[in-house]
Amino acid sequence: MIVNNASTDVAVVVPAAGSGSRLGGRRKQFRHLGGAPLLVQTLRCFERHPEVEAIVVAGPPDDAGGEELAAELRDAGISKLYAVVRGGSTRQESVRQGVDATPASASILLIHDAVRPFVSADELSAVIAAVRHHGAAALASPATDTMRHGTTDGFFDTTVDRSTLFHVQTPQGFRREWIVDAFAQADRAGWDVTDDVELVMRTGRRVAIVEGSSRNIKITTPADWDLAEQLWYSWAEPTS
Ligand code: CTP
Ligand code: MG
Repeated sequence: MIVNNASTDVAVVVPAAGSGSRLGGRRKQFRHLGGAPLLVQTLRCFERHPEVEAIVVAGPPDDAGGEELAAELRDAGISKLYAVVRGGSTRQESVRQGVDATPASASILLIHDAVRPFVSADELSAVIAAVRHHGAAALASPATDTMRHGTTDGFFDTTVDRSTLFHVQTPQGFRREWIVDAFAQADRAGWDVTDDVELVMRTGRRVAIVEGSSRNIKITTPADWDLAEQLWYSWAEPTS
């Protein structure tokens, strides 16, 4: 459903349709962190960023028209909410539904996991600037541990050169035509990938690295949730 009619340049698509199986319990995007649902806390990063003008959320597929979720998000102060759509059975499908629902006036589309509430305003600005310059960009943090292959029988193998390795995060941002074209090609070729950088790179385009902080964690496991609760009180940006 469409809940707002903004004229926009930058829009963000937030896939929030996952089942959170690795964390367990109720869907993690609706669990409370810092007094509000995790999804709301993540959306606030975009709500308060001056360059982001529209937010599209892909909600759980079982939420009929997204009306209930849209009302809840509006009540929580997400005034830039443009649409809530039904996500799919894979993240790729959820993102695709979200991209299709973005306002046509948005020439830059960011895609950001609902479960990464610690992205900073400066990181968002840096990704948007890099997309304007290069056409596509994503946040990533340099690998800091020693990286080593393992053998199939459980022993260490060769060490990998860490200096060229990154943990790829979100947001990942693209010129609208690039990501729309990538989804069209994915349909034709049957690509099934884990992130949107991969999708766009498969179309032959280059995606710029924007170095970000390892604080921008994706809450995936119970250990991540514990860490997020600690980070929330020591690191969260002011909300006003
Ligand atoms: N996501 C989605 N639609 C899906 C699967 C995932 O919108 N069918 C979203 C999640 O809601 C999350 C983001 O993609 O915001 C990153 O996915 P992940 O951390 O893997 O979340 P889940 O898929 O929910 O968790 P799990 O893989 O442990 O089940
Ligand atoms: Mg998943």
